[in-house]
Amino acid sequence: MGTQEEDPTSPSRALLSCIFLTCIALSAAFSATDQSVSRPLKKLEKPVVILISCDGFRFGYQFKTSSPNIHRLIADGTEAELGLIPVFPTLTFPNHYSIVTGLYPAYYGIVNNQFVYPKTGDAFTTSSHEPKWWLGEPLWETVVNNGLKAATYFWPGSEVKKGSWDCPRKFCMLYNESVPFEDRVDTVLSYIDLPSSEAPVFMTLYFEDPDHQGHQVGPDDPRITEAVARIDSSIGRLIDGLEKRGVFEDVTIIMVGDHGMRHVPILAIRPPPSYSPSDFVAKMNEGLESGRVENGKYLKFYLEEELPSRLYYVASDRIPPIIGLIEESFMVEKKKQQECGGAHGYDNALFSMRTIFIGHGPQFARGKKVPSFENVQIYNLVTSILKLKGAPNGSSAFP
Ligand SMILES: *[C@@H]1O[C@H](CO)[C@@H](O)[C@H](O)[C@H]1NC(C)=O
Ligand SMILES: *[C@@H]1O[C@H](CO)[C@@H](O)[C@H](O)[C@H]1NC(C)=O
Repeated sequence: MGTQEEDPTSPSRALLSCIFLTCIALSAAFSATDQSVSRPLKKLEKPVVILISCDGFRFGYQFKTSSPNIHRLIADGTEAELGLIPVFPTLTFPNHYSIVTGLYPAYYGIVNNQFVYPKTGDAFTTSSHEPKWWLGEPLWETVVNNGLKAATYFWPGSEVKKGSWDCPRKFCMLYNESVPFEDRVDTVLSYIDLPSSEAPVFMTLYFEDPDHQGHQVGPDDPRITEAVARIDSSIGRLIDGLEKRGVFEDVTIIMVGDHGMRHVPILAIRPPPSYSPSDFVAKMNEGLESGRVENGKYLKFYLEEELPSRLYYVASDRIPPIIGLIEESFMVEKKKQQECGGAHGYDNALFSMRTIFIGHGPQFARGKKVPSFENVQIYNLVTSILKLKGAPNGSSAFP
């Protein structure tokens, strides 16, 4: 376990700040795009959105090194001034799928990066592409439902065939982490060259960095700085390509991350059927509070239904009945492994879990700052920019 540091959003204050965040989140959604600033398209016939995710791009990484391209998008676009709030659990798969569905994980069922479905004993892993796991309607499906084309250059869930989305060869890339970032950018640019009737109006672009390095070395290592510089040059390549085509001011770029980075995956426990979950929770918490467990006070177990409601981590039979929440900068390990790596999966109210939101394009005001908001707002943001009829979120996707 590590040491605890000061943070503006300590879990004890989290509930209060959460009430506050809910209010500002609602106002942010309405002001992130602003009809009064909407600039007409110059060359393209239809609005086009490129949604970029940089895995584990913690809020603040944009200041680690000179990143002229990211800063150009910020200066000429709209930014969540203190970052984008991820959903709980702050892990890659749930957060990416919340971004594209506008739903909390319990409502589309990807409740963790890995889990076992108790009714069947089937295991979900990050390579499970069967539609049964993936509920909710992702943006690429919405776009196709509206008679338009979508393209995915990697995104969790994008290879899953569901509804009108059949992961077309041409527009749906099968995950391969070895593909250089440059090739990803160039392919997306090549879609812009297609005749208007053929060209996707919504494209995703996914970069594994800097999460990849964050796990190996933690948030403050120079290798993170290098990864940020590499992301910046990939953004630069995209901007250059769009400018060469005369469409940089027409295309909307939304750059986000999925979660931040901090020196724990979610602790979810399904006790054997003969144990009562509430006794289990009581005994575990008693032990942790007894003072006999080193750092025990930094971990607390909850029955799923007793988790703070602001986490929306309830109402799915995929969620194990017992969840442990751990305080920032601590981790629970079976064995002592490497010391200085990073982790995520913590409470999404923690500032260290925040990531970036930058919107640049005809419907985003230039140089505007908006308060932090939750990433479930992005679905509606994209459908409104593309002027599409979106899926009603909420109950329709309930498992
Ligand atoms: C639906 O989306 C809105 C934001 O657009 C969000 O506030 C709400 O919680 C979402 N509903 C669910 C069930 O995830
Ligand atoms: C993955 O991408 C690399 C680099 O482009 C390529 O050499 C390799 O053949 C690809 N692997 C598969 C399974 O397509």
